[in-house]
Amino acid sequence: MSTPHNRAEKGDFAKTVLMPGDPLRAKYIAETFLENPKLVNDVRNMFGYTGTYKGVPVSVMASGMGMPSIGIYSYELYKFYDVENIIRVGSAGSYRADVDLLDVVLASKAYSKSSYAMVQGGGQGEFMYPDDKLNEVIKGCADESGIKVLEAPIHSGDVFYYQDGFNKFKELSEQQGCVCVEMESFALFHNANVLNKHAACLLTISDSLVTSKETTAKERETSFNDMIKVALEAAAK
Ligand code: ADE
Repeated sequence: MSTPHNRAEKGDFAKTVLMPGDPLRAKYIAETFLENPKLVNDVRNMFGYTGTYKGVPVSVMASGMGMPSIGIYSYELYKFYDVENIIRVGSAGSYRADVDLLDVVLASKAYSKSSYAMVQGGGQGEFMYPDDKLNEVIKGCADESGIKVLEAPIHSGDVFYYQDGFNKFKELSEQQGCVCVEMESFALFHNANVLNKHAACLLTISDSLVTSKETTAKERETSFNDMIKVALEAAAK
């Protein structure tokens, strides 16, 4: 069995998949944190691996950037590979001065004007929601690990380069309550909802639309690793 985008066989993926956007992040996570990682997909270099974490089978697979891309890969994982949980582990741009670079955000809901949910299958409204229980498990794991996580609404955008970015982020932050922007969770949450599966999204703030603060490569690596540890602890529960 395979799909046009995934050469893995049925049974090659664990019940829980961590999903970064970048294929090289998927490789890094698998090789750094999983025991006995095995490459199960490399179609279009969208790497997928399965190994164990603390003895529990866990997979990691990249989503690519944007809702059409995560829409395809997450749909196939849920529908054809019997995956139950997908935890997106990504980066985001901050919309607020008090949401700083390297902070970790757990999406409480994803706001979007994307047509993905409506076109895919009747998804209504501009908010899509993660799985409550999965979010509770993730928050518990963050507390146990002493890692601070802010649970808040996020914006899933279709556009990275706006003509008028400043007004856009002010409006989305003030009117919709979004603390940061990424480009995938709305579609992921919709797919999970229509397929009766579970999804959550953890984000590390990589840039700010409000301040021009910068971070070192070492700081970025440490905070990214914190987010991954929280996601892996949740996957192993
Ligand atoms: N992911 C990380 N930073 C982002 C930004 N500024 N806009 C959209 N997605 C992002």
